[in-house]
Amino acid sequence: MPLPASWALCYHHSGMKRFIIGISGASGQAIGIKLLRELLERNFELHLVVSRQSLPILEQETGIKYAGTLDRTGGQLRGDVRAGVLFYYDADDMRAPIASGSFRTDAMFIAPCSMKTLSAVANGYASSLLERAADVTIKEGGKLILCPREMPFSAIHLENMLKLARLGVAIAPPVAAFYPEPKTIDEMVAFFAGKLLDQAGIENDTFKRWKG
Ligand SMILES: Cc1cc2nc3c(=O)[nH]c(=O)nc-3n(C[C@H](O)[C@H](O)[C@H](O)COP(=O)(O)O)c2cc1C
Repeated sequence: MPLPASWALCYHHSGMKRFIIGISGASGQAIGIKLLRELLERNFELHLVVSRQSLPILEQETGIKYAGTLDRTGGQLRGDVRAGVLFYYDADDMRAPIASGSFRTDAMFIAPCSMKTLSAVANGYASSLLERAADVTIKEGGKLILCPREMPFSAIHLENMLKLARLGVAIAPPVAAFYPEPKTIDEMVAFFAGKLLDQAGIENDTFKRWKG
């Protein structure tokens, strides 16, 4: 018996959970990379888009050489992780599957999220693939998880975050906790990535949890 059309939309051919990861041009590129690798280890299907502005910052902060662009597999970002499936899209590729609501996903992350991308998402200004994918996620009632990074936040930034929070978007900035007693930057980054995974309901032990 054929599946009802609504079911066909809900289920993916690969049977794997499917996530979009956007990396924009804020500081904290390591958080996006850590998140990507954690998701890949879980054998998910990942769709990655990196904004133009983030590429030089990525190189500066993580040492990952982008040489003007990344290769089509996003291999440099994958690192040694061999498990999940990774699709990488050019930031201007508006014909990519993630630009359409007919392409079903389990959640989308933007980590780190710049104030410019935050503003675009809050105002439905979808001028890049990253912004369009976020716009689609909201219109489809999907789970959008943002890791906005700026210090301090202006009233404009806060209003944009409030607007999105009221729509059900998770606003999870990289605000450190000190109870896990982090000793290294890697531990801090793992904490931020773990909190983002928590928002998507993905079990993880990337950081020491408070047990009371
Ligand atoms: C080294 C560097 C660090 C930056 N860090 C931030 C940041 O933490 N937050 C932010 O909102 N913008 C930051 N910016 C500015 C953004 O890159 C800039 O606003 C850009 O237009 C964002 O474009 P995108 O959102 O399309 O990636 C930084 C720029 C540079 C060069």
